[in-house]
Amino acid sequence: MNIDECKEIAARKAASFVEPGMVVGLGTGSTASFFVRCLAERVAQGLEITGIPTSEATRELAAGLGIKLGSLDDYPELDIAIDGADEVEKGTLNLIKGLGGALLREKFIAQAAKRFVVIVDATKPVTSLGERVPVPVEVVRFGVKSTLARLIKAGAKTVRARRTLQGDSFITDNGNYVLDCSFGLIEDAAALAERLDSIVGVVEHGLFVGMTQDVIIAREDEIEQWSV
Ligand code: A5P
Repeated sequence: MNIDECKEIAARKAASFVEPGMVVGLGTGSTASFFVRCLAERVAQGLEITGIPTSEATRELAAGLGIKLGSLDDYPELDIAIDGADEVEKGTLNLIKGLGGALLREKFIAQAAKRFVVIVDATKPVTSLGERVPVPVEVVRFGVKSTLARLIKAGAKTVRARRTLQGDSFITDNGNYVLDCSFGLIEDAAALAERLDSIVGVVEHGLFVGMTQDVIIAREDEIEQWSV
């Protein structure tokens, strides 16, 4: 089984959690796209749900597949949200998210959901956050150099301004920059999250602490579920 097949298996399992009438958070990224497609198959078979997308890309994908969409303002509480992740910490189910740049809306939706389910392949679980990927931090454009200096004071060993493949500054759906910050192995994600939250120019960061209820991990030979 290749990685895409694993992602699809995790996505299909998560889609089976969705029940008629639910308001469902739709994640962003390659794994979440498999979920949106699996959900659309069920919608085509008659399942009635309302999807709340976490990015413009997901909005476009879901609308194109015939999923009825709403906004967080229409539905401030969601029944379930299903999304991918860049790292999942074993034991705590804390996450790093945002390599796709949608972390702010993803966190809004995860926070608003009664149940937040994360779907990953076997490359995503780690013993400590920070093992493989930096923490994406969404920052306002104003005073970005000052924010960068504050991030270094908060413990970032390296800070990289995210760019598009064309070399332009990456701009989020909310009109902000993303700074990818490497903190090394993160021993206390809650404490780091608090430090990042206290920086004025930081809009949101990709540490999702204490938000996840279930993780579905699709490996080559088995599918595993971790729950809190
Ligand atoms: C998007 O901003 C991210 O949080 C994604 O959920 C995360 O990057 C996982 O994406 P993949 O499923 O493409 O690895």
